[in-house]
Amino acid sequence: MNKDWITFAMPKGRIFEEAADLLRNAGYPLQEDFAAGRKLIVEAPEAGMKFFLAKPMDVPTYVEHGVADIGVAGKDVLLEEQRDVYEVLDLHISACYLAVAGLPQQRKERVAPKIATKYPNIATQYFKAQGEQVEVIRLSGSIELAPLIGLAERIVDIVSTGKTLKENGLVELETIESVTSRLIVNPVSYRMKDKQIDDIVGRLSAVIKEGSPSS
Ligand code: PRP
Repeated sequence: MNKDWITFAMPKGRIFEEAADLLRNAGYPLQEDFAAGRKLIVEAPEAGMKFFLAKPMDVPTYVEHGVADIGVAGKDVLLEEQRDVYEVLDLHISACYLAVAGLPQQRKERVAPKIATKYPNIATQYFKAQGEQVEVIRLSGSIELAPLIGLAERIVDIVSTGKTLKENGLVELETIESVTSRLIVNPVSYRMKDKQIDDIVGRLSAVIKEGSPSS
């Protein structure tokens, strides 16, 4: 019985809650607050689903290795990680965008300015495409700190409300890419559990279409 369950790798927190709501709207019986607390593996037996609560950046790794059949990952994470997974559905949740930001008065910078980011691959590709030589410095979080204390001239980071940039006196310089959460699937799981996975994808897309006036 257990082996037919569908396993999900999900980011903890707000994205999990939004994705769980989508699954509920799609008809899967997930109890309210079933993932409250600090447990990292939570089960919804009535839905035949098991959820692994991971760091957002690690979700594609679990799915690529096949320990999770399905994952929910931001487009930012997918672009950065380039894992061997199928991206099957835009869930249209957790919308934000990737941008370059810096101090407003920064004018001419040194040759190969420093760019702080938790997206070194995205930043490297972006500046290469712009024909600009930069030095990318990888950080794990609080990226906005870097230009304030002279670690980097600019940052590449996610902007959601813009509040973090504003409160730290930074301005957006260029937009790179818009970001939403996507449903990703392990290629082998897609073959082995095709009916169950197609059912999930089909039901979720119906719910997403319903909720979106533009589609
Ligand atoms: C993210 C992102 C920005 C902030 C943007 O950080 O890296 O810092 O949110 O959101 P806003 O535009 O609504 O202010 P997160 O909160 O994930 O923490 P982190 O700095 O540890 O990555």
